[in-house]
Amino acid sequence: MVGHAFMGAAHSHGWRNAGRAFDLPLEPRLVAVAGTSAERTAAAARRLGWEESLTDWRELIERDDIDVIDICTPSDTHREIAVAALQAGKHVLCEKPLANSLDEAEEMAAAARSAAERGIWAMCGFTYRRQPAVALARELIQDGRLGEVRHVRLVYLQDWLSDESAEHSWRLDASRSGSGALGDLGSHAIDLAQWLIGDDVARLSARTTVFVDARPAPGANGTLRPVTVDDAAFVLAEFGSGVIGTIEATRYALGRKNALRFEINGSKGSVAWDLERNNELEFYEADGQPGTAGFTRVLTTDPSHPYLANWWPAGHTLGYDHAFVNQAADFVNAVAAGVQPEPSFDAAASVQRVLATVATSSGSGTWEVVA
Ligand SMILES: NC(=O)c1ccc[n+]([C@@H]2O[C@H](COP(=O)([O-])OP(=O)(O)OC[C@H]3O[C@@H](n4cnc5c(N)ncnc54)[C@H](O)[C@@H]3O)[C@@H](O)[C@H]2O)c1
Repeated sequence: MVGHAFMGAAHSHGWRNAGRAFDLPLEPRLVAVAGTSAERTAAAARRLGWEESLTDWRELIERDDIDVIDICTPSDTHREIAVAALQAGKHVLCEKPLANSLDEAEEMAAAARSAAERGIWAMCGFTYRRQPAVALARELIQDGRLGEVRHVRLVYLQDWLSDESAEHSWRLDASRSGSGALGDLGSHAIDLAQWLIGDDVARLSARTTVFVDARPAPGANGTLRPVTVDDAAFVLAEFGSGVIGTIEATRYALGRKNALRFEINGSKGSVAWDLERNNELEFYEADGQPGTAGFTRVLTTDPSHPYLANWWPAGHTLGYDHAFVNQAADFVNAVAAGVQPEPSFDAAASVQRVLATVATSSGSGTWEVVA
């Protein structure tokens, strides 16, 4: 694994526990983790359960006792690490957004296609696909329970930048993160939108905005550093099939900590979900009983629900981290079976295409004036 902070901890949890929850054909072994500081990486290795720590990710790729490279670093590093790992014959799990530009993403997708011909697999970490309620929503849509889909509505709301004195970080520097709320949060929403209905965004109109354009540099006594990414993004989208969608991503929605939400309306029903109540899927069927028809709160903890046969008895809810265990298990099962783990780099590159088009649309600056 490369990187050992937020996602490094979540992925380590996934690798450590996948073989406990799932009957896997291969047991993951946490061989070595790479970071930038020897001391911090060694401490992280001890805490997260890795056998060794290193400060150069290239050493991971050169080793014969390592089969998988898990990329949990900022997105400016994804392309170089992923392409080198795939060329060296390592399977790759890479965090989202896949890259910082469409060119990088397409190069990564091409490297993954070429590796796949040799039985080497690459997957991108759009982890929310592994929340059981989200996977159930997709099953309902794909089984036709919503009829013809008409509206796709997603928001991803956080509030950690609402405080104007919050410190600068790599996430606010375009050269490191590519974009702001758009790539960080919007990429999840775009991936879910496309995956849930099985169709890609074909056309869009978008706006991004910046609320606070400079923030204190960490530890630098009041020195301000410019913010070079968007704080919020708004997208009006049309999918290939003509379905209309809206997507909003912001880090300034005070009170909303991690509110990834969707509502999808079809000709026969609707589904709605909120990550902050992740065990519940709201489902509405138009042919319900008159007088009592309404949204049903489906508690997605039944063994018949996606992933739940491997977890606790019905009603014993799952959390944020279970999706990372589900993700690790799906990855191991696909690699062991010699099939493409999803989302592929091609699927992640299609998200990157939307991100790039949002930036172009927002930059074009056209508004219709209300007369
Ligand atoms: N799937 C999700 O839900 C989700 C959630 C948060 C972040 N992410 C993504 O995960 C990635 C990492 O984000 P994070 O929140 O863990 O960031 P973070 O700042 O918490 O951690 C980044 C880690 O990368 C290490 N690092 C940076 N450059 C390195 C290099 N050249 N070599 C080795 N290590 C290096 C840092 O030391 C640190 O350990 C990003 O792409 C981000 O968008 C995904």
